[in-house]
Amino acid sequence: MIKKNIAEALNQQIQHEQNNAQRYLAVALYFEGLNLHGLAAWLNKQAGDERGHAEKFIKHMVDRSGVVKLGALDAPQSTFKNPLVAIQSVQAVERATTALIEKLMALARKEGDYALEVLLHWFIGEQVEEEQWTNELAAEMELFYEKPGQLYMLDHQWGKRAKA
Ligand SMILES: [Fe+2]
Ligand SMILES: [Fe+2]
Repeated sequence: MIKKNIAEALNQQIQHEQNNAQRYLAVALYFEGLNLHGLAAWLNKQAGDERGHAEKFIKHMVDRSGVVKLGALDAPQSTFKNPLVAIQSVQAVERATTALIEKLMALARKEGDYALEVLLHWFIGEQVEEEQWTNELAAEMELFYEKPGQLYMLDHQWGKRAKA
């Protein structure tokens, strides 16, 4: 069994991860619109990963007889001033997600919920990766977004990474 306040926090996190999937899909579509299909493929892959995150929390709830409450998703931002701003938006999303995962960990510890703590270990590692690549891509974008030749190179690179 899962405590009521933990179940509430997990339902909020499920909602957040589903919203993240929508956010990534919107940014992927923005890049499709710019004919930057490699970056679009990478961001689409991230949308899938975010759905996977929601599913991990859903499974944890179901396994522990918690009641999952799904809600309506937010309309994501779908237009951006330029590719740099678009990538900075996902960088901000990942930083916010890390803060939420850390809050969940603090709650799990306060409530002595060891099972949730184990699940959150995976998410803490995952957020290190998510922040790493968003920082890397944001730094590259800053250098190249106004230089079409280099931007196409960047697109190609991240497209290859999406298939790896
Ligand atoms: Fe996530
Ligand atoms: Fe993420």
